[in-house]
Amino acid sequence: MFQANLLQDKVIVITGGGTGLGRAMGELFLELGAKIAITSRREELLRKTADEMMAAHGGEVFVMPCDVRDPAAVETMLDGISAHYGRIDALLNNAAGNFISPTERLSHRAVDTVLNIVLHGTFYCTLALGKRWIAAGHGGRMLNIVTTYAETGSAFVVPSAAAKAGVLAMTRSLAVEWARYGITMNAIAPGPFPTPGAWERLMPDPKLAEEALTRVPLRRVGNHTELANLAAYLLADGSAFINGECVTIDGGEWLRGASEFGYLDTLTDGQWDDLTARSKQAGR
Ligand code: HXC
Ligand code: NAP
Repeated sequence: MFQANLLQDKVIVITGGGTGLGRAMGELFLELGAKIAITSRREELLRKTADEMMAAHGGEVFVMPCDVRDPAAVETMLDGISAHYGRIDALLNNAAGNFISPTERLSHRAVDTVLNIVLHGTFYCTLALGKRWIAAGHGGRMLNIVTTYAETGSAFVVPSAAAKAGVLAMTRSLAVEWARYGITMNAIAPGPFPTPGAWERLMPDPKLAEEALTRVPLRRVGNHTELANLAAYLLADGSAFINGECVTIDGGEWLRGASEFGYLDTLTDGQWDDLTARSKQAGR
């Protein structure tokens, strides 16, 4: 759906870029001419992913391992990528940690783990790169992957909901504060996009995944290319006036949940005939 050179020579850092959605977005960026740097905790996995991505799409994928919970490691990661490519044009904050649990069962360490990866890790990467861009006198683009429940909250993933809400608040705040430095910041709120990382921790029973489908008005999950297309659009030069926005991509899922009568979308024509006949009797 794009011109082949949409992201030509842009240096894009992707946290959590070795797996799942981070990898899918990286693959499309490569196809569109970008130079990619992927980072996460597992160096071996990153190297394997980078080799596969370059074999499939050409271009260059640079690997720099880092635990985003460690601010010193974040600085080292950015040093390594800047030294390799000579600059960084965009940051995709995609790394996350999450699992389902009744909140009262969580230890404080479990809470810290998710908050540290999602909220602190995203903040450390954003802050470290923002300072560099401001000091160097040039801007750049930042894109943060949140979730639809960053706005609404969600039961049973409460540390993730709190952390993603924080990332969304940071996105909207810095979009205003750092615009004067030429830095724009946006977010994407995906609905269900099956990945091993998310599904093993959030839908550990296949029945949960089946039920998840019924919540989406389009009756399907997202495909990774659809998300990657949106990310590419939001990092392209032609969308530079979009700033502080959070774009939902969920097939209508969260609105169906919020919609008072949205649950009726599973009724058959026969059931509607019956309900209509009954409602026409109202007041008679
Ligand atoms: C309860 C859990 C738990 C679980 C870990 N803990 N998993 N508690 N239920 N399923 C607790 C541990 O017991 C421990 O507390 C504390 O959390 C830290 O656990 P560690 O295993 O030591 O943490 P760590 O090795 O740092 O691993 C982080 C992780 C792990 C978040 C726990 O799952 C991970 O590495 N995740 C990365 C990938 C990921 O989560 N991807 C999904 C993103 S999907 P105690 O007290 O015992 O020491 C997403 C949105 C999806 O974000 C939305 C879908 C619609
Ligand atoms: P995923 O494959 O598990 O991706 C998470 C990535 O984060 C992994 O590559 C992981 O790599 C990295 N990571 C975790 N902890 C890290 C740390 N401390 N430091 C550095 N990297 C770390 O899951 P995904 O589904 O693709 O999720 C990607 C993003 O989409 C996340 O922000 C998630 O919240 C969001 N999202 C996903 C869905 C969905 O349906 N899949 C829906 C809404 C939002 P390492 O383990 O190697 O560190």
